[in-house]
Amino acid sequence: MEINSVKSTDHSKTTDHSKSTDHRKTTDHSGAANQSRSTNPNKAKNICLEAIDLCKTYIVDGYSNNVLQNVNLKIAEGEFVSIMGPSGSGKSTLLYTISGMDDMTAGKVIFDGEDLSGMSAKELTKLRLIKMGFIFQQMYMMKKLCIMDNIVLPGYQAKLCSREEVNKNAEELMRRLGVIELADRQITEVSGGQLQRACLARALINSPKVLFADEPTGALNSKASMEVLNELVKANEAGSTVLMVTHSEKVAASSDRIIYLMDGDIQGELALGKLSNAADTREELAKRERKLRNWLEEMGW
Ligand SMILES: Nc1ncnc2c1ncn2[C@@H]1O[C@H](COP(=O)(O)OP(=O)(O)OP(=O)(O)O)[C@@H](O)[C@H]1O
Ligand SMILES: [Mg+2]
Repeated sequence: MEINSVKSTDHSKTTDHSKSTDHRKTTDHSGAANQSRSTNPNKAKNICLEAIDLCKTYIVDGYSNNVLQNVNLKIAEGEFVSIMGPSGSGKSTLLYTISGMDDMTAGKVIFDGEDLSGMSAKELTKLRLIKMGFIFQQMYMMKKLCIMDNIVLPGYQAKLCSREEVNKNAEELMRRLGVIELADRQITEVSGGQLQRACLARALINSPKVLFADEPTGALNSKASMEVLNELVKANEAGSTVLMVTHSEKVAASSDRIIYLMDGDIQGELALGKLSNAADTREELAKRERKLRNWLEEMGW
């Protein structure tokens, strides 16, 4: 089977532009798509990540699959945004193309004021290392390294500070995330929840501007999911912007804004606002979850 992704120059040949016209009716380029459903409270804030008419087309066995169709999206600094939508709607593809992990077919991505489409592979790798953090459902870590070595590695590679400082930061992060006692363990010697918290420590080692998470709780039981989610909320409070894909209403209910993707197109968004540190967070979360569930039903979830 031949699998290719199409470079931007080929886009005009492969993308169905009839779809993009529909999309523009529902997306406001100020970042608040479908405002009739919700208002985006982050409108006035600094934008740290922006997709402009972002398209991604895969060609498999000679057939084009327009997975992302003119996606327009703005993420403000400090936001915690969830992407939801049916399986195959393009959520992971959006995360990978907006972070420069995968090529876009057409459009632009502006990350922290820089246009990713004009960058070489080397420049992109450096930018990702220094300013982005990633966690995935599959919890990739290097098998030959112990937990601690996996966590410090991107810190050593980034060379933003001395190795001693990286070690110290790693220890602090591991303590905060409750995995310090696992530092010398092999990655096969810890539970899924522990491994995901270690992955989060690794993602945070260079204090990323944006943390990208693709179904970070997808392989975890509910207790471990909530622990990882709480750590994502804390990382967001500590200054990292978070863009997360999730299928879970419970998990998405903690984010500030939820974007609904279907057939590679943003269908709407719901702004829930920041989760408060109020004493009765459980009650607040239940309310947010109910609001989200009702909205998802409207979206055809
Ligand atoms: N590397 C690839 N080559 C070819 N097609 C791909 C590739 N990656 C994804 N696709 C196709 O793109 C579409 C969107 O896939 P994507 O993984 O982004 O969906 P998703 O919304 O993340 O789904 P899920 O919720 O199941 O993870 C699917 O039709 C998928 O088959
Ligand atoms: Mg996916």
